Amino acid sequence: MDRATWSSRLGFVMAAAGSAVGLGAIWKFPYVTAQNGGGIFLFAYLLTVFTMGISVMIAEMAVGQISQKSPVGAYRFFGGISWSAVGYTGVLCGFLILSFYSVVGGWTIFYFVKSVQGSVITSDVVQLRRVFEVFVHDPFEPLWYHGAFIALTAAVVLSGVQQGIERVSKVLMSLFFLLILILIVRSLTLPNAMEGLVYFLMPDFGSISARMALEALGLAFFSLSLGMGCMLTYGSYVSDDTNIASSAAYVVGLTVLSCIMSGLMILPAVFSIGLDPAEGPGLTFMTMPAVFAHMGGAQFFAALFFFLLFVAAITSAVSLLEVVVSFLIDEFAVSRTRAVILMTALIFILGVFASLSLGIWGGYTLFGMNLFEQLDYVTCHIMMPFGGVMISLLVGWKIWGPVSRRLSGADGAAYWWFGIFRSFCRYIAPFLILLVLVFQHVRA
Ligand code: TRP
Repeated sequence: MDRATWSSRLGFVMAAAGSAVGLGAIWKFPYVTAQNGGGIFLFAYLLTVFTMGISVMIAEMAVGQISQKSPVGAYRFFGGISWSAVGYTGVLCGFLILSFYSVVGGWTIFYFVKSVQGSVITSDVVQLRRVFEVFVHDPFEPLWYHGAFIALTAAVVLSGVQQGIERVSKVLMSLFFLLILILIVRSLTLPNAMEGLVYFLMPDFGSISARMALEALGLAFFSLSLGMGCMLTYGSYVSDDTNIASSAAYVVGLTVLSCIMSGLMILPAVFSIGLDPAEGPGLTFMTMPAVFAHMGGAQFFAALFFFLLFVAAITSAVSLLEVVVSFLIDEFAVSRTRAVILMTALIFILGVFASLSLGIWGGYTLFGMNLFEQLDYVTCHIMMPFGGVMISLLVGWKIWGPVSRRLSGADGAAYWWFGIFRSFCRYIAPFLILLVLVFQHVRA
């Protein structure tokens, strides 16, 4: 069977970056950084991304490129039946992520609609918090938006217009970067903004903890779309002669850039308007309207921002749904339409519970976390790191030969970093990830 391929390496890099850059960078990164002490967390995040992150990214893409299969098939192909369990875990992980991702994706639509109406733009902290909380706690309203988001994601996956979407999103993402640059300037020139800048960029090495290492690991994997087979699937559409390693480096670079830009945009403004930096998942949504309130053309900029955030989110959501759907198609030979409808319905239902757990069902907690937090925790702090360990072990021990041959230059020569990469796959990444996992989970 002929497999679809990306038209060029640029197409591949843009698609992978479209998957990586999304709510992770703009919504999650700022509040997780703020909850974990600012500069020191940025330091831990960057350290993780440029070691484990890039190594796991290359490993995933290479396994996809060589096997030309989606996760379950790829693991089975290389490791036999027992390894296919890793692929199943990845698919489940994608399913779980999407259920809460879509809820937050819905928030972007809500804020877009409200910005168009001009009704959320204010710099009054009490009001900013109230808008967010009243909306999120409402038993019905967020569900409509969540439904709209997952339905739009499904429509893209169903019509197979990803390629078209990628083309449009290239333009829109460039526009997003430009807009964020403008917003950074505005944010940094607000009164007291410097306090936030120092908080974001100056590490306080006294506050290092095991908990923080796990958060950094989870966010690194989440923001780079790693550990569940997403990059593996994208890699499987790559032609044989595409250079995986440099593509991975570009994707990592673009993601890190978006995270840092997002931090520069949000955190100075947080300190300026006097919000609590550890506000949690509402941070980006509460802060940005205040930044707009201090600009000319507030309504226009607000609507544009939330629209572009929505676009960034949907390109990521599409990559998640694609993994789940292609699993059903490959393993159970169902039609694409059926697979999309079934999965979208299930994801919607789980998302409804996740959304309600932030409001009227907030009282139901397990280990002190509501369902929304649990979905986030289990995927980012257990399943994705586990996936990272397994892909590393697979590449380092079982298929190093084919992988290194594939990664070699046209003349078949090894690159200087092969030895480092192999040590990362064999020992360093699995050891460090397991260490962080065990430390955090067994500690209590
Ligand atoms: N990286 C995306 C974001 O930051 C989310 C995402 C897409 C993802 N695909 C993934 C996260 C695969 C983990 C695994 O918004």
